[in-house]
Amino acid sequence: MTINVTPLEHVGVEVSGFDINEALTDSIKAELKSLWYEHAILVFRDQDISPEKQIEFSRIFGPLEIHPLKINTSDEHPELFVLENGGDKDSFFTAFYEGEEIVGRLDWHMDLHYTARPNHGALLRAVVVAEEDGLTGFGDLAKAYDALDSETQDLLEKLEVAYSFSMQRRHMRYVNLEGYEPGPHSPKKPADVGYPDFADAVYPAVVTHPVSGRKVLEIVEQFLDRVITPQQFGLSNDESIELLERLVAHTKKPEFTYFHQWRDGDMVLWDNWRAMHCATGTRPGIKRVINRTTIEGDITLGRVDSPE
Ligand code: OGA
Ligand code: MN
Repeated sequence: MTINVTPLEHVGVEVSGFDINEALTDSIKAELKSLWYEHAILVFRDQDISPEKQIEFSRIFGPLEIHPLKINTSDEHPELFVLENGGDKDSFFTAFYEGEEIVGRLDWHMDLHYTARPNHGALLRAVVVAEEDGLTGFGDLAKAYDALDSETQDLLEKLEVAYSFSMQRRHMRYVNLEGYEPGPHSPKKPADVGYPDFADAVYPAVVTHPVSGRKVLEIVEQFLDRVITPQQFGLSNDESIELLERLVAHTKKPEFTYFHQWRDGDMVLWDNWRAMHCATGTRPGIKRVINRTTIEGDITLGRVDSPE
């Protein structure tokens, strides 16, 4: 078995030349793991995947997380988290964008980023491919960092940024709210979906990847709230807000992103310590099912902002 690696247009690679239903040798597993660290976003096509195989394959990359809230996990396979559009939970995830009703759209984010301890990664597999829309976007924040001018890189080395969890998109400061209206059943506070009131999570604006050592621009639009004490670093509040606006726009540039259009047999794996992701969502009534496995985050990359 020889693994072939084909770069995607801007970031990430497509990995082919193997069949997940054949026994994978230790050297193939090691190669897959190093590709994950090297490229952060791995796309696999035409695989014949069962829940058992997805779980087994995902374990190559680390111990799997069992989601603490049982709501979306399958009883048979607690490692699987099922994401579903077109089912009875749609109304909670429905909102209006430019007057259009959309289910399950998600801004750019990293999973569990708001806890200061993000997952290490996740693998998505399309079970039911949406007839239209339903894309997943991925953005490489190591490449985004590398492309910054050195003046900005030097400034960011000194800064910390805070993320404030919120259930309501209209309370988020750096997402695009133009033409946005929440749906009538959008949750209003964390308790509505059984979440605690998370304290803010604070990160260095540049995080060094614990394994690869690459510098990662720790700026993602969802929940992004502020630069910590900007005046200590020679920035007014206004300047710090404009800096975050500029950086958020930078992370979303096409040269750092890839939008995956799902087909049957696809799997996508990403490194959640380096890549952000988003979902475009679907029109109401469009069925879309994704099985997700999550690689546990065993390192706290940020810190929880609590009183001294
Ligand atoms: C996720 C996620 C995006 C999608 O699984 O964490 O954001 O396209 N999924 O379903
Ligand atoms: Mn996510």
